[in-house]
Amino acid sequence: MDLFNIKGKVIVVTGGMGQLGSNFVKYLLLCEAKIVILDIITDQKLVEEKFGSDNKSLLILNCDITSKRAIQEALVQIKKDFGQPFGLINNAALDSPPDSNSAENGPFENFPEESWDKVMEVNSKGVFLLSQVIGGEIAKSGAGSIINISSIYGLVSPNQSIYNYRRLNNEDFYKPVAYSASKSSLLNLTRYLATYWAKKGVRVNNLILGGVYNSQDKEFLESYNNLIPIGRMANEDEYNGAILFLLSDASSYMTGSDLTLDGGWTAW
Ligand SMILES: NC(=O)c1ccc[n+]([C@@H]2O[C@H](COP(=O)([O-])OP(=O)(O)OC[C@H]3O[C@@H](n4cnc5c(N)ncnc54)[C@H](O)[C@@H]3O)[C@@H](O)[C@H]2O)c1
Repeated sequence: MDLFNIKGKVIVVTGGMGQLGSNFVKYLLLCEAKIVILDIITDQKLVEEKFGSDNKSLLILNCDITSKRAIQEALVQIKKDFGQPFGLINNAALDSPPDSNSAENGPFENFPEESWDKVMEVNSKGVFLLSQVIGGEIAKSGAGSIINISSIYGLVSPNQSIYNYRRLNNEDFYKPVAYSASKSSLLNLTRYLATYWAKKGVRVNNLILGGVYNSQDKEFLESYNNLIPIGRMANEDEYNGAILFLLSDASSYMTGSDLTLDGGWTAW
């Protein structure tokens, strides 16, 4: 069991207030790690709902990951309160949910330039900045693990046939482009950093995830689940094991790699 031991390690989780991020945080707290959440949502009531009150192993900092200065300030606070960071989970991201405005979910030719910039700014540049500041600090200490959370849509294109049911209802609906492009950018940023820091004891890997249940409508679920060999979306706690694996010595010889958990989506 020592292989999976991360007790006392300081792990930074961006977007830790979101659906998957809060699952990772709860699970890593059970593993007795010290967790720092960087998020733009730090509402105290929500924090208590998700994580309970007065958890001495949890530090929540309001930090917009598109600002290098905000990340640098967060690092100062992390070192003061918890000490040297060991892990970084680049999890915060923007997607265009199916109920976004019609331009975002319309034809590719009309996808708004501002939406492209916004998604790239958080999902791609944010990870670059965090890698510079927090990753750079981990590299100085000579040991650590960075996990970049990507998506099946960063590996393959969204299958637009999932949304036929919306087009049949006269909506000009397409899963938009920016999220896919941003998630692909992480694949090679990961390989770049894995080789750059390999001799410094810092491992950097991609965790590529498939879709997760989150009150999606019935027609969407029917179409989507048909495309998954396992026949269903993931439950939100089904990625925790992979997170622990990548953070711990259980994956000590793994760097610059992709670990895909997608129910077989990309296998056919
Ligand atoms: N949920 C899925 O089905 C799914 C599937 C594949 C991959 N993923 C990936 O998993 C990760 C988590 O997804 P999720 O569904 O939990 O997302 P979510 O929307 O529930 O959470 C994202 C979190 O990121 C935070 N955030 C957004 N912009 C930020 C910024 N500028 N600075 C700091 N924090 C910011 C949000 O406040 C939120 O707490 C993402 O990288 C996503 O691409 C999710």
